[in-house]
Amino acid sequence: NITTKTDFQEFLHNGIRFVSPIHSVEQLDWANEYKVLQDDVFIITYPKSGTTWMQQVASLILGNNDIDSVKNKSVYERAPWVEDCLFQRRLDSQTEPQLLTTHLNYQMSPNALKHNVGKVIYVARNPKDVIVSSYYFHIYSQFLKTPENFEQFLKQFVEGNVFYGSWFDHIRDWYSNKEEISMLFVTYEEIHRDIRAGIEKIRKFLGKELDGKIIDTIIKYSKFENMRADPATNFLSLSKDLLDHDRGKFQRKGIVGDWKYNFLVAQNEWFDSIYQERMADFPVKFY
Ligand code: A3P
Repeated sequence: NITTKTDFQEFLHNGIRFVSPIHSVEQLDWANEYKVLQDDVFIITYPKSGTTWMQQVASLILGNNDIDSVKNKSVYERAPWVEDCLFQRRLDSQTEPQLLTTHLNYQMSPNALKHNVGKVIYVARNPKDVIVSSYYFHIYSQFLKTPENFEQFLKQFVEGNVFYGSWFDHIRDWYSNKEEISMLFVTYEEIHRDIRAGIEKIRKFLGKELDGKIIDTIIKYSKFENMRADPATNFLSLSKDLLDHDRGKFQRKGIVGDWKYNFLVAQNEWFDSIYQERMADFPVKFY
């Protein structure tokens, strides 16, 4: 029943920003208690880190060499967001293992994951590119407020006063708990550099045997240009009430280092100093 931008309401839950009617407190609580099955696979990301890309790659890998039966379904049907109100009823009755997605932080995610039930693929991306991607997504999306300008959005992001909260806390909390979880931690940048090696890593983690030809096909379908043109992955069929297709594209640029074209020198220096303060001991490098 979403008709205009004003129908979306931001709200805070556990100090984190969400948007109704995509989210609700009941739905978030339900997600926190979600009954994870041992063979469920969760794609976990901070928004704009390559979620859709991983939904495509992982669902095709899990397709047991039968790409045709998977590829025409939209990615968000193949790997539904556990915290999205759209999917609750369907997921409630699931008895078969699922591929699922969440942007939730560690604390708010399904508790079962923290007790080693289910598998997790966490995708991380250079925060500077996340900021740029997220800035343009706020312009494109109807459910997020259009930022005043890049400078304002950068500050808001660093404060963690954005959709799904602080990037810094998200990555730190998931990363520091990764030994207790069956987790594969990958970066957007490493998959970008070598998609074949990325797919191989994910295939192994998911314990799937695939024909060489199938791997070539997955690589082809996971290319940026292909996903941009494919109705199952480009979100073009999603209502204009959710995404304003005149103001953007979901597959916007798909490159590493777009921040260089968007950060001013002073903004970059400022962000580096914050990063240094908060993440100096963080072992993951984004290149
Ligand atoms: P840009 O805005 O930098 O282009 P998410 O799916 O988490 O919302 O992330 C969206 C980002 O992933 C966008 O980044 C989008 O272009 C990029 N992306 C989507 N599909 C991709 C692909 N096949 N290859 C590389 N990047 C992709």
